[in-house]
Amino acid sequence: MAATASTTRSRVYAILRHSDNSSSGRRWRAFHLLVLGAGLFAVALSSIDKLPYLLDRGLPTVIVVVAAIFLAEYVIRVWVAPEAPRFAGHSEGIARLRWVLSANGLIGLLAVVPAFAITTGSVSADSDYAAVFCILWVLKLGEHAPAMSTLARVISNERATLASVLIIFIVVLVMAATSAHIFERSQQPEQFGNVPAALWWAVVTLTTTGYGDVVPHTVGGKMIGSVVMVSGIMVLALMTGILATGFAEEERRREYLRVWDQVTKVPMFTELGTVTLSEIVGKLRVRHYPPRIVVVRRDEPGDSMFFISEGEVEVRLPRAPVRLGQGGFFGEMALLDRLPRSATIVTTQPTTLLVLYASDFYEIASHIPSLVAAVEKEARRRRTENESNAPKPAR
Ligand code: CMP
Repeated sequence: MAATASTTRSRVYAILRHSDNSSSGRRWRAFHLLVLGAGLFAVALSSIDKLPYLLDRGLPTVIVVVAAIFLAEYVIRVWVAPEAPRFAGHSEGIARLRWVLSANGLIGLLAVVPAFAITTGSVSADSDYAAVFCILWVLKLGEHAPAMSTLARVISNERATLASVLIIFIVVLVMAATSAHIFERSQQPEQFGNVPAALWWAVVTLTTTGYGDVVPHTVGGKMIGSVVMVSGIMVLALMTGILATGFAEEERRREYLRVWDQVTKVPMFTELGTVTLSEIVGKLRVRHYPPRIVVVRRDEPGDSMFFISEGEVEVRLPRAPVRLGQGGFFGEMALLDRLPRSATIVTTQPTTLLVLYASDFYEIASHIPSLVAAVEKEARRRRTENESNAPKPAR
């Protein structure tokens, strides 16, 4: 009985995980986005004073229904928390408590506050209060953006570099405000009479915002302004560069782990030593496909080959289709023969493929001859099979 409850719980946990690629997981995410969109839309509309009668009556109901769904989601997430691998080794109670105190747990709790407040009647669903509470739902959108956690990691990884740029920013800011104060104080005592007042102009200029509410009048002030504007562009460019490079690095690391996870399901790769394997992992890309998707089309040029780490594909050959499952590969013939694709290939179920592009395939050929030899051997067998099955030309 306990085992059944635990399997149900792990199944529910898998569906709620945002990285889950099953159709139930995708359906849940679509439903969640729809509910979130409806809630935010209703909250935004309810802030309009004069609404048609029907909308005015209907919006509070939508808000209560959305809040109730989030309440149910929160309770279920607390229930499944012990399934999370990061809480492995903790008791169920501690795992739940740690999830409740995590960023996602706190956002989930904030999102259900309106549910309590509205259903207990302490706040009416159409009051401004409810709107403020419900705007917290926008934070739940973050759950649908894996890039949010990536950004947090990038900022944490690059904190030393970002801090250096921030210090440069502060140095330029203080120098600009002080110099502008010296040049402009007699002409514009209100705006530049002291350094803190001049700081407002320096921030607006250095960030290249330029409201235009405060402008230097003296030649010296204008020269300082020009230098600050150019410095502002450089500092922002530096910040952007650091974040963009950090983002790309982090994404590359994550992709490496994703590929490593999939590579272990392909026996052809696991037979290679760890060093060789780590070399090939850097060249593979993971692609998830739903069923009935054409992966390669006959007669089209081919620039990549594919290894199946999960699922199954159908090779549409003239005589009879052939199915390839986990551990199989396809698309090698176009790379070896430098000819267009010899067949169309379609997924028959949710399938995960590891893609190897032609340039990397030719590079690997010199480093890992055993792997390429195995691919060539199978390609020869397939060619022979296709030739013997080819329809004979009419005499
Ligand atoms: P390619 O020609 O690049 O694209 C179509 C792919 O279908 C081909 O590479 C092979 O990987 C695969 N293929 C062709 N013939 C067979 C076969 N007889 N059995 C299994 N796979 C095949």
